[in-house]
Amino acid sequence: MSNSQVKFYSGENIPLELHKTRIVQKLHLVPIERRLEALHEGGFNTFGLKTTDVFLDMLTDSGTNAMSDDQLSAMMRSDDAYAGSQSFMRLQQAVEDVLDKKYYLPVHQGRAAENILACAYVRKGSLIPMNYHFTTALAHITEKGGQIVELLYPEAYVLKSSHPFKGNMNLEALEEYIQKHGKRNIPYVRMEASTNLIGGQPFSVENMRAVRAIANKYGLRLVLDASLLGENAYLVKQREEEFKDTSLGDIIKIMTSLADLVYFSARKLSSSRGGGICTNDEAIYKELESLVPLYEGFLTYGGISIREIEAMAVGLYETQDETVISQSPTFIAYLVNEAEKRGVPLVTPPGVLGAHVNAMEFCSHIPQTQYPAGALAAAFFLISGVRGMERGTLSNQRDEYGNETYADMELLRLAVPRRVFTLSQINYVIDRLAWLYENRELIGGLKFVYEPPVLRFFMGRLAPISDWPQKLMAKFREDFGDSL
Ligand code: F0G
Repeated sequence: MSNSQVKFYSGENIPLELHKTRIVQKLHLVPIERRLEALHEGGFNTFGLKTTDVFLDMLTDSGTNAMSDDQLSAMMRSDDAYAGSQSFMRLQQAVEDVLDKKYYLPVHQGRAAENILACAYVRKGSLIPMNYHFTTALAHITEKGGQIVELLYPEAYVLKSSHPFKGNMNLEALEEYIQKHGKRNIPYVRMEASTNLIGGQPFSVENMRAVRAIANKYGLRLVLDASLLGENAYLVKQREEEFKDTSLGDIIKIMTSLADLVYFSARKLSSSRGGGICTNDEAIYKELESLVPLYEGFLTYGGISIREIEAMAVGLYETQDETVISQSPTFIAYLVNEAEKRGVPLVTPPGVLGAHVNAMEFCSHIPQTQYPAGALAAAFFLISGVRGMERGTLSNQRDEYGNETYADMELLRLAVPRRVFTLSQINYVIDRLAWLYENRELIGGLKFVYEPPVLRFFMGRLAPISDWPQKLMAKFREDFGDSL
């Protein structure tokens, strides 16, 4: 059952909630004047904001998906033991049942899995082909002296598109790359489900099967980043003819069965905390096993609290449930379609994780040197209290010579965590986005005042290059009067 199966008599396309809310949290919609102060305090970086100043927190879906009653109740029976905990055994069983992998290594979150893979397999000169990078995956690989290469098809870079699988690996380019560089320097090929940084865009099972065949031909390992696998599987069901009648659980298993090693952030995949690495290959398990007690914690908790281990186990089973997994993509599709009708440029087709606003077009007057997506994130928070995340040049890292590397896309990501927001809140986002689009000329650029050397987007501090925030605030007051 999914909400796309419910039609309204009026003909309106409304994604109906298939859950009810029983625990609520009060939000803070503070006046725009306070929001401007908060921006200054937070260095014009939405990571620097406090939730007491944030109305709708659309920073991320990481650790912010709503938890179910079953998850919460499971947390109460946690078996706290350093070694051999029953909670861990339940999680191991869930990994086997849902992801179809019998060896599981727990880690405290997704990037810890990336660290362990990089420690085990990446050396100076290693080359890792992938559909597209994720910030933390890239940082761990380059820290070990490795390099990545991104092999998407050209359509992936077309922001306004109707291509159903923009996350597909470019098969011809992959084979060419392997032939050119030789398999010796390639420890593994990485595929990221629902490719995060290009707008949460999925790949098809057909594509993954073909990547598997290439990996087999050259004797290479295939690694699947499954952090957003549930939603990728949901879009496979929606968009890939062969799977329209296949259950979500079966699609997930078909996808994991194609990879030698699967890793994930449980903060996303199972609406909990934690993460993991799993495989059916005992040799891989043995290669990685000793790194878990070294970096994470003993093999039966891996740095995850035991309560979260219980929530993770239940959350993994819920990943097979279409009513859980369809909610976020259908709300995102509603947001994208309605905002598009009002002229706002967004990544299409709508993907997963969030709506992605095309800041390069929205703020076409701001050069990439002045971080248009970062500026748009700050401007949108100022006029709405909605906190999104920059996914553009600010989220890139400088090259080895210290030069800025300009992102392929400048996006403002408005995350829609699972089952958190109501439709009227989404309508508020659409309304404020439409207003800002009409007033986009008032948005100006940003510059760094403090730039950390690694993952600079997290802690970096910026400042507006003119008094544009004041001007934007004045226009808001002119149009909205004393509205919050
Ligand atoms: N892989 C993907 C595809 C991710 O989206 C993330 C996290 C990670 C790995 C790292 O996992 O945060 O648990 O260490 N994405 C978050 C985001 C941070 O906001 O998109 P983590």
